[in-house]
Amino acid sequence: MAHATMNFPSDFLWGTATSAYQVEGNNTNSDWWPWEAAEGSILEDQRSGRACDWWENAEADLDLAAGLGTNAHRLSLEWSRIEPEPSVFNEAALDRYRQILQAMHDRGIEPMVTLHHFSNPLWLVEKGDFSSDVVVDYFKRYASRVATALGDLVPKWITINEPMVYIFLRYLSADFPPPQRRGTSAARQALPNLLRCHAAAYHAIKEVSPAAMVGVAKNMAVFEPRREGHLLDRWWSTEVSWAFNDWWMLAMQDGRLRWPIRRGRIKHLANTFDFVGINYYTRYYMRFLHGLEREWPAGAVISDGDYGELYPAGLFRVIKHVMRYQKPILITENGLPDKADKLRSAFLLTHLREVWRAVNFNWPVMGYYHWTLTDNFEWDRGWTQRFGLYSLDPETQERRLRRSGQLYQEICQTGSLSSTMAEQFAPSVMRQLFPG
Ligand code: FCB
Repeated sequence: MAHATMNFPSDFLWGTATSAYQVEGNNTNSDWWPWEAAEGSILEDQRSGRACDWWENAEADLDLAAGLGTNAHRLSLEWSRIEPEPSVFNEAALDRYRQILQAMHDRGIEPMVTLHHFSNPLWLVEKGDFSSDVVVDYFKRYASRVATALGDLVPKWITINEPMVYIFLRYLSADFPPPQRRGTSAARQALPNLLRCHAAAYHAIKEVSPAAMVGVAKNMAVFEPRREGHLLDRWWSTEVSWAFNDWWMLAMQDGRLRWPIRRGRIKHLANTFDFVGINYYTRYYMRFLHGLEREWPAGAVISDGDYGELYPAGLFRVIKHVMRYQKPILITENGLPDKADKLRSAFLLTHLREVWRAVNFNWPVMGYYHWTLTDNFEWDRGWTQRFGLYSLDPETQERRLRRSGQLYQEICQTGSLSSTMAEQFAPSVMRQLFPG
């Protein structure tokens, strides 16, 4: 077997990613909080509770992140803490975020900050949030306020996390806390409003910090025909892929909304992203006119709770796909639920090899943020899915480095993938990664 090392550029960003609601704990003003506790909740008795205790002590986990050798971290701000009531801004919350961001800098960790990651202030939901036009001014003011308070500490911003996923899970399925109105017509109003919010926030941040890079974390998935060679399945998978992966990106590029979702033009939307943020997890197989199905071909490797198929080549495919936007690329999320840590080492090596391939074509992939540092509150799946490089017991708050976490540490510390790492952590991928 050949011995070899795949080196990454010395300024490559090696990171982890989290979101506020999933790690901070006690976000009682968010729409998730009462939803978790509601009678008949799909979460049954699971609660975010203290989560990973970041509001009290993010610094402890930032020590762990620094110990892994990471030099970047993506986190989000909880709007419901910063603006607990309409037009009432909580200076103490902004101070706490300043402290956390400063703690990152002190540890050599570059912050990337998301403004909206699946969680809303309760008062905004009462006002109809994204399916009501009022949301745009509120979001703009929130963005401007936090950019003013925190901008000097934040070189990279994400306005909105996974807009298409959010619209789908909140308006079209019942997996997320409900808006005032569900259904396709509300979704068709919410999507352009999310774009308007994005554009308003983009300009608000740029006004305060012209040099900051601002973008979106866009979930990109691979869609294949369910029946190989079946023309209608093939046509349908291409349509779904276009709607899910491209529709939003094209709108941010030229300011236009497209059929079949909605037609029109949004002012000040064109060219409002400085990089493409890719959240990549898996691929789906599409049957003509069917939705997503959790069914895989024989031999596919599936992560915990039927979350998804491990398909590393898909990461290369989506990177290649977004090259058309001619912007720097950041992998803003990539990971898997794997409580027993049986697959994560192979996952890291095989996915990062695809990133390395892209880098070797001189494609501008600037960094990789693994989802996630420690197990955290996984939305509608509560604590049942464990994505952490560190395991976490939410009761005792005890953390333990998983073996795959040791591997990520070696990768970050050396800025490389090597056959020695593969032999040691995931011998099953040796032949695939280092043939010969
Ligand atoms: C992404 C979300 C993130 C986390 C991972 C597993 O879709 O952005 O918050 O839930 O999935």
